[in-house]
Amino acid sequence: MRYRNVDKSMKLFERACELIPGGTQLISRRPTRFACGVSPVYAERATGSRFWDIDGNEFIDWVSGIGAIILGYCDGVVDRAVCEQISKGTMYSINHELEVELAEELVKTIPCAEMVRYAKGGGEACAIAVRIARGATGRDKILFCGYHGWHDWYLAANLRADASLDAHLFPGIDPTGVPKCLAGTAIPFPYGDLDALGNSLDDHRGEVAAVIMEPFRTELPPDGYLAGVAKLAREHDVILIFDEVSTGFRPTASGAQPLVGVTPDMAVFAKSISNGYPMGAVVGRRDVMEAAGQMFISSTYWSDTIGLRAALTTLREVRRRDVPKIVRHIGTTLQAEITAVARETGLPARCEGLAFHPHLTFETTDLQQHSQLSTLFIQEMAKRGCHGYTSFYLNAAQTGADIEQTITAAREAFQIMVRGRDQGRLDELLECQQQVESFRRLVR
Ligand SMILES: Cc1ncc(COP(=O)(O)O)c(C=O)c1O
Repeated sequence: MRYRNVDKSMKLFERACELIPGGTQLISRRPTRFACGVSPVYAERATGSRFWDIDGNEFIDWVSGIGAIILGYCDGVVDRAVCEQISKGTMYSINHELEVELAEELVKTIPCAEMVRYAKGGGEACAIAVRIARGATGRDKILFCGYHGWHDWYLAANLRADASLDAHLFPGIDPTGVPKCLAGTAIPFPYGDLDALGNSLDDHRGEVAAVIMEPFRTELPPDGYLAGVAKLAREHDVILIFDEVSTGFRPTASGAQPLVGVTPDMAVFAKSISNGYPMGAVVGRRDVMEAAGQMFISSTYWSDTIGLRAALTTLREVRRRDVPKIVRHIGTTLQAEITAVARETGLPARCEGLAFHPHLTFETTDLQQHSQLSTLFIQEMAKRGCHGYTSFYLNAAQTGADIEQTITAAREAFQIMVRGRDQGRLDELLECQQQVESFRRLVR
């Protein structure tokens, strides 16, 4: 086994920190989110299920571009369609037919979609959806659960002393730069608790524009929960928005709605909609979306044809190849084999959750030990050419060989972890700093 060296990555990150506040553009790409000093930080190229870092190491990518890659890197069909589009110009002074074609595709594909607006990312699409909901209802307050991007409307939740985002994103987020006058406009509710949502809607009766939430994340919702949310939203005349940025088109080729059997008023998509090209979409009921026609929601690059072409081609390919079935199979296999290896090595751990987004659970109530085990897993897997967290974002290019290499790596990692735990020296085995608090999602 040739253990990997990431010196070039680490040196480049030092240069980045001198020039780029925070070092990266996305918190999930910070080296501290992985095994800092062992995991790769900078990629040079990628294809299929793998990427190569700037130190020349090859990795199976179990993060799939933080969820954006659903067909695999450099997918031939999508990339050819995009290249052909580039040869005709990427954007113009006037509009392009693709804007309408993609809207028709989305309306055909997504249950709640009757009209469509575009964006370039998930957080931006959420901000647009919230603006439309506020405009359509004439109300200001937003009830939310989970993570929905970086914009003022969302971070306003932390302007109150109780730091609402602690439980929905991660602790310690200072809302510096967010206007203080937005305090009280974004109000969190706990996932799975209909009474709490009902009470909050009662407390703010007549003031709430929208309820925004992920329908689920890595576990299915409790029976009847989402139908109950939709009923409460209807009773209070509030717009229900499903944020499907992360679940995307892995649950079904039409997103999450057919799986849960609940149709919201609006939904938001990005990431896997376009297999790695910048794109986002806000879709919804005609009477709600129509309000946007009277609102100032406007940007030059939302009409860029690379994103439009990539999204149109990706959506069609996801359906044609039945990608949800492929990723379900990969996930089910991973879950069974990783859980079996845990049992075999004596590590109390299971790989569980929805098959399209499996995650590893360590059975310990000791939070410090849990964090050490997670970091050690990420570290030992990285050394063996498997890049990831303790959860797995799947894509259709991942193969049986990738799973085999991953299981072999997991077996060795688990053996090291068991020895470390039994000898009480987990901390000594860490060659990196312990992983910092990950995005804590209430929606699981
Ligand atoms: C549910 C959800 N909403 C919104 C976002 C933000 O998307 P983006 O990073 O494209 O702005 C994310 C990103 O992880 C997400 O998971």
